[in-house]
Amino acid sequence: MLRRLHPDQPDSFAFTADNMAWAEAQITKYPEGRQASAVIPLLWRAQEQEGWLSRPAIEYVADMLGMAHIRALEVATFYFMFQLQPVGSVAHVQICGTTSCMICGAEALIEVCKDKIAAKPHALSADGKFSWEEVECLGACTNAPMIQIGKDFYEDLTPETLSAILDDLAAGKVPTPGPQNGRIGAEPLGGPKVLVEGSDTSAQNASVALATSIGDTIKRIDGTEVPLLKPWGDQGGRAVEARSEPAPEPRPAADVPVNDTGVTKQQAPARSAAKPEPKPAKPETEATETDETGTRPARLDDPRDGQPDDLKKIKGIGPKLEEVCHSLGFYHFDQIANWTEEEIAWVDTHLEGFKGRVTRDDWVGQAKALVEAGT
Ligand code: FES
Repeated sequence: MLRRLHPDQPDSFAFTADNMAWAEAQITKYPEGRQASAVIPLLWRAQEQEGWLSRPAIEYVADMLGMAHIRALEVATFYFMFQLQPVGSVAHVQICGTTSCMICGAEALIEVCKDKIAAKPHALSADGKFSWEEVECLGACTNAPMIQIGKDFYEDLTPETLSAILDDLAAGKVPTPGPQNGRIGAEPLGGPKVLVEGSDTSAQNASVALATSIGDTIKRIDGTEVPLLKPWGDQGGRAVEARSEPAPEPRPAADVPVNDTGVTKQQAPARSAAKPEPKPAKPETEATETDETGTRPARLDDPRDGQPDDLKKIKGIGPKLEEVCHSLGFYHFDQIANWTEEEIAWVDTHLEGFKGRVTRDDWVGQAKALVEAGT
């Protein structure tokens, strides 16, 4: 299937504070220089946040990982787990249409989706709540035919049971995922033939039990669940500092859905996000310097009052590029707004891994507008 970016794209994307903390901790799983390995989890998180993957989101993740945009675009357009267009606000139904499911009735399930959602795949239902598509084998062949909605499988389906699931979702109910014909897992249809003694035939399989405990099987990950808060293997880095926060206060039980890894929000640390102490005044700037690449702009040793501007408000600057700017002594919009042509040339040359971005994305024009707007 041809997978293209949607023609209508939002202007920008940014992770929420919680998702950013999660993403930064994910990156610590990988050794220095291999941060790009985090591209799939970060793209997935961006999709969970917005419902689908826009071009600004893909480029934002690429910038965060120091990757060329095309590399992240290649990943996002290759895997059908990534939705490149808006999907139903309640559920995007992925119907397996591969051999086992096709033999066992996937075509009838597709007809249900055509009838109840939209005639064509990837089109939104009239109320915007649903969309559907046919996908390749999802690895539940012994429970064919099946669908995936979000993180959950619904298996051993018939047109009637799928229809009932869609009706329940439309009514705001929470259907139970897993086999829909009474099976617990992938045991024979007539019941288990081995390990019969002591087995609890009323139990749910582990995936269904976890989904049930969440209480909302189609809940998207939104950063309120427990993220990976510690760096992988204690490798240090920014995430270590970010995690050195006080112990969390338990949250009320009513507010504790469980995340996709089965951990409750009760364990989520409080995000006190204490502001940094203002640092003693330092010399405001160093003088400009000229070399063969241009003129180095005046720089700051530290942000004024310890509070840098959010340079990510400049389109084209992601968290990674913001770090590079800080390392060069640029913390504020008014610094950037005042760069001359020679200074732009110098910065464009010294943005490690992002050369030419100042000119390409017109940082100076954007910074001027932000200064004028008082942002
Ligand atoms: S063929 Fe449908 S899950 Fe494998």
